[in-house]
Amino acid sequence: MTADPNAPTPTLPLSAEQLLTTTRAVRKRLDFDRPVPRALLRECVEAALQAPSGSNRWAMQFVIVTDPERRRALADVYRAGYALYREMDGVYIGSVDKGDEELNRQQQRTARSADHLAENMHRAPALVVACAPGRAEGDVAPIRKTTLLGSVLPGMWSFMLAARLRGLGTAWTTVHLFKEQDAADVLGIPNDAVTMGALTPVAFTKGTDFRPALRPDPDSVIHWDRW
Ligand SMILES: Cc1cc2nc3c(=O)[nH]c(=O)nc-3n(C[C@H](O)[C@H](O)[C@H](O)COP(=O)(O)O)c2cc1C
Repeated sequence: MTADPNAPTPTLPLSAEQLLTTTRAVRKRLDFDRPVPRALLRECVEAALQAPSGSNRWAMQFVIVTDPERRRALADVYRAGYALYREMDGVYIGSVDKGDEELNRQQQRTARSADHLAENMHRAPALVVACAPGRAEGDVAPIRKTTLLGSVLPGMWSFMLAARLRGLGTAWTTVHLFKEQDAADVLGIPNDAVTMGALTPVAFTKGTDFRPALRPDPDSVIHWDRW
């Protein structure tokens, strides 16, 4: 029996609340050996395009790398950026002291997982880079910077939520931007005209049971009526 090409994509039975609270940065549970159909990646981009964008300009572009050699080249740039990041005391995820034993344990687990991703990034069946057409640097109005990335990053998060719904794992990453020109060169991106937002690996996850993580009490971050 052949599969019905018009059948809807199977999605996980998650409530909206579960989707929002269990979409984790997946690094150690990415199944590098299972191919990801292009149709699924396209569906995630379709969801991303429903996100807000400044002046409704839909100013988001996605470079989706599946070619193994290019994945390897991009992952090499990522690793070079990660090596710099790892030396940054107080910035590197494993050097941040949360001032609490349980939180520090979670932080160290995340650091090991980030190290693991850096070593294995090239093995993900797809690497996706969200881009904003334009640059907003130097002496430009702050609103231009906010609008530029603000028109792409919500879409990227929607991409990740849509991926999770389809059994795919993602992890928001940025350290390739320490070597921005090198990353742009690998991808053929005109670095003077396009801003790269985030890079994520995409792969099916090993298991689909992800849980909410430790987070601050909402009252500690809310400023009612004024800062
Ligand atoms: C702006 C930003 C940059 C990030 N850069 C990286 C990165 O370069 N590498 C990485 O492994 N994770 C990166 N992360 C992922 C964070 O480590 C992750 O979101 C955080 O630890 C929470 O993980 P959790 O959702 O699994 O709890 C980044 C996240 C954000 C929002």
